[in-house]
Amino acid sequence: MKKTEVAIVGLGTVGSGVARLLLDHGDRTARHAGRTLWLSHVVVRDIAKSRDAQLPEGLLTDDLNRVIKDPNVKVVAQLIGGIEPARSIMLQLLEGGKDIVTANKALLAEHGPELFDRARQLGRSIAFEASVAGGIPIITNISQCLSANQVTSLRGILNGTSNFVVTRMDQDNLPYEKAIARAQQLGFAETDPIHDVDGSDSTQKLAILAHLGFGARIRWNDIPCRGIDTLDKADMNYARQLGYRIKLIAFALYTENGLQLIVTPMLVEIGKPLAEVRENFNAISVMGDAVGPVFFHGQGAGRMPTASAIVADMIDTAVGRTALTFETLELWSDGVPRVEMADPGDLSGQFYLRFNVRDEPGVLGQLAGILGENEISIASVFQHTSDMQNDDIVPVVIMTRATLEKNASNAVIEIEKLSCVVAGTERLRILE
Ligand code: HSE
Repeated sequence: MKKTEVAIVGLGTVGSGVARLLLDHGDRTARHAGRTLWLSHVVVRDIAKSRDAQLPEGLLTDDLNRVIKDPNVKVVAQLIGGIEPARSIMLQLLEGGKDIVTANKALLAEHGPELFDRARQLGRSIAFEASVAGGIPIITNISQCLSANQVTSLRGILNGTSNFVVTRMDQDNLPYEKAIARAQQLGFAETDPIHDVDGSDSTQKLAILAHLGFGARIRWNDIPCRGIDTLDKADMNYARQLGYRIKLIAFALYTENGLQLIVTPMLVEIGKPLAEVRENFNAISVMGDAVGPVFFHGQGAGRMPTASAIVADMIDTAVGRTALTFETLELWSDGVPRVEMADPGDLSGQFYLRFNVRDEPGVLGQLAGILGENEISIASVFQHTSDMQNDDIVPVVIMTRATLEKNASNAVIEIEKLSCVVAGTERLRILE
């Protein structure tokens, strides 16, 4: 049996899962790669730190050079989070002739072009299946298995922390603060979960998928983004009464004017697959012009789901298969027409609008007037009983017909200027 020597840099949650799969299940790598992946080094910052992972004697080192200088090591799982020193270590490993496997989407979102270009110059590859939706094999599917298609749309729940929180807000009627505290107690949210709940983690993942699926080289922070941290549980209730759940959706739509991209909480009709994605799970619905709709569902984070994607990438790298995905990125930048980002204001869709208004004559007429002036047709109106301290203020929910983002935004700005409207308006897209 042939042997490919590999190394792990970083033995945190994911690193220890990768070590476990490599050490305990070598038969699987042998079956799929036709060779053994032999774990030669595990690099950590602090050797003395106590860890759950039981490693054979001599594997652990705090010296990165042991990996770089070992000519037998071909593939390195670089599992350090954050930007630095992860970026410098990745560059050193590439210079040392190693192919890289990583889950670090923040690093790729910030420094992908630099790292990919350097890897290409050096004839190396970077595999990143685990960087989007953890255990769900979406990178390989979108760049290889669906390559006969023009991908026309993509809708994803790409952040497990956010999905756990909105599930708890919806099912247990918890306010955001209590739901995030429960997520933290159960290990589904970091101590500082800001990048998960403010939408930036999903936006970075969407930028990677947009590059692979549509050839759109978009900076992640150019994508309009809103997270779940400002949601009110009252809207979960009102939406449910109308037949919807609120989910953080990463959305991409291919149009003749370019690619529409947005990350934002949306109303998803109960019964549609994305509405049924619960707890910490992720899912992605992809539409291809030949294949039609394809749906992926699974765990987007955690030790073993992420390790599953990392080890699969290590196997694919050992046999040369990840090079295909890596080349897809290059092809898009080499003469193939690029897809540009469309004007976000032109994204069409239906909206859920909730205004807190004074309960007095003529209020609905004023709201309807402004919506009409902005070419927005009303589909339905519901006035709920007040759940506020002041009984004279009531929530009014208006569901609209399809309109443009800019019209909905302008209308809300105008309506909020009315003296009969008090603070706390909500405006959410409805997923079509
Ligand atoms: N923290 C992310 C999540 C996983 O909650 O889904 C890594 O991007």
